Amino acid sequence: MSRIDVRIQASAEEAVRELAGELRELIRRCQDEGRRAVLGLATGRTPLPLYSELIRLHREEELSFRNVITFNLDEYLGLPPDHPQSYRSFMREQFFDHVDIDPECTHIPDGMVPEEEVVAHCEAYERAIEEAGGIDLQILGIGRTGHIGFNEPGSPADSRTRRVALDEMTRSDAAPAFDGLAKVPTEAITMGCGTILAAARLRLMAWGANKAEILRKAFLGPVTAEVPASFLQEHEDVRLFLDGPAAGEMD
Ligand code: PGA
Repeated sequence: MSRIDVRIQASAEEAVRELAGELRELIRRCQDEGRRAVLGLATGRTPLPLYSELIRLHREEELSFRNVITFNLDEYLGLPPDHPQSYRSFMREQFFDHVDIDPECTHIPDGMVPEEEVVAHCEAYERAIEEAGGIDLQILGIGRTGHIGFNEPGSPADSRTRRVALDEMTRSDAAPAFDGLAKVPTEAITMGCGTILAAARLRLMAWGANKAEILRKAFLGPVTAEVPASFLQEHEDVRLFLDGPAAGEMD
């Protein structure tokens, strides 16, 4: 816990302002250095206020994403990119379509990759991250299972991008968006814990009382594959952004 910097704010909107400011600084510094900023991005309810704030910075404060390259954590297997619940659709609707990022520079695993090409696709995703120079800053949420990306309990610390089965709790949390549990995919492609831990900076957000228990386990409990987010305790540059209810069990 000692190395983890925890920022607690009254609301998610306030918490993301600081994180968006850090991203702006990183993007501008990379611009000055003549290189691209490499961001790891997340989907789900948690990052929505962050994307809203980044869009606001783009519209009102001229923050440009032209020198940004992104890699998303994960994608459901079996969903075409234009499926309303695909993470590709999510990212376009919530962020990419509202800023000046080059769509060619936005990477998300392909949920429709043919069975026999999944392994090669995952290896290519790892290679693309490496060729981009590695991830400067990775945005994360946390699932109630303790997952980061779709690394469910049991995922090893050195796991890399791969095909995974979704935990039943994760599927039932996604059920309302899919209009019922039966329609929620059972598998996904996700960056591994090792892929995530290789990022230079990790920034995890969590809002609401229903994340309080898993946050305590992940950051005050032992480092264990049973709670994959606990691996963050061993990373050198982690910051947590929490609202009051999410931080409720952190002391
Ligand atoms: P949520 O999901 O942001 O929708 O709560 C978080 C996660 O599963 O990582």
